Amino acid sequence: MLIRLPTDIAPSEITPPEIYRDRRRFMQGMGALAAGAAFGIGPDARAAGAKLAGVRDSAYRLTEASTPYKDVTTYNNFYEFGTGKSDPARQAGSLKTRPWTVAVEGEVRRPQAWDIDALLKLAPLEERVYRMRCVEGWSMVIPWVGYPLNELIRRAEPTGNAKYVEFVTLNDPRQMPGLRSRVLDWPYTEGLRLDEAMHPLTLLAVGLYGEVLPNQNGAPIRLVVPWKYGFKSAKSIVKIRFVEKQPVSSWTAAAPAEYGFYSNVNPQVDHPRWSQAKERRIGEFRKRDTLMFNGYGDQVASLYRGMDLKKLF
Ligand code: MTE
Repeated sequence: MLIRLPTDIAPSEITPPEIYRDRRRFMQGMGALAAGAAFGIGPDARAAGAKLAGVRDSAYRLTEASTPYKDVTTYNNFYEFGTGKSDPARQAGSLKTRPWTVAVEGEVRRPQAWDIDALLKLAPLEERVYRMRCVEGWSMVIPWVGYPLNELIRRAEPTGNAKYVEFVTLNDPRQMPGLRSRVLDWPYTEGLRLDEAMHPLTLLAVGLYGEVLPNQNGAPIRLVVPWKYGFKSAKSIVKIRFVEKQPVSSWTAAAPAEYGFYSNVNPQVDHPRWSQAKERRIGEFRKRDTLMFNGYGDQVASLYRGMDLKKLF
């Protein structure tokens, strides 16, 4: 459930206090900021863990407790750095997030190669605390920092032929040891229907817990689509392509019977090899019931009116 945040509640009253009082990480962030200033790169922090400046609160904030920072950043799926949950945190240090360009292309009137630092300033950054549900049956609550993807899409001016948006992520074996494995057809690609991509819940995230996105979470920029299984949220994006035909994502190409294009969180549609009715919130023992559209039905159900979501899974 999404609630409006009364302006008189301090973030420290909502988020577990140890997060806001973690002095070591705070000092690291300040150190990175000072280093940035010394090299003349200005006040915007670039290193993972550095505090992001000027982040606004938003109305998109769950009442549920956020998953601790440590779990959010050490229990990850990022196959370019290995298939184990702890591989990305151990191996993603080799990812270089500057210079970084995101190409916006295809069926748009204004194609553009965006430098990441220009993208960071494209729209005001806000904090949004979203529930995330992985197709494997675990979930987290994550305070993302970013802005709606529709800010970028509006500037690109999609043509009438743009029906879908394809997201392509970095494919550089020198930086990403997992690319040597054939587990997926690289580069990792994902897709959304244009109206899903335009939905105000769909976020381009550049941080979490108020800090620059750690590499293992998809630095420097990733997608966050909270009503879909986690794999739709492509990490380390280098290309956003507007297309007429429904794109084939890496997961659909790998196992079409298991990973459909829509991938909406739906407890009534089992994965062919396991039930999706329940989930384990990281840090909890008792399983929770999985909610339709991951609990975001009030916001997104209208996108799928008249569709058979058992067939179009
Ligand atoms: N993006 C890329 N480029 N590569 C990946 O392997 N894994 C996906 C998604 N985005 C993945 C990716 C999956 S399966 C999940 S569950 C989420 O990232 C996990 O995001 P998190 O580690 O930030 O929780």
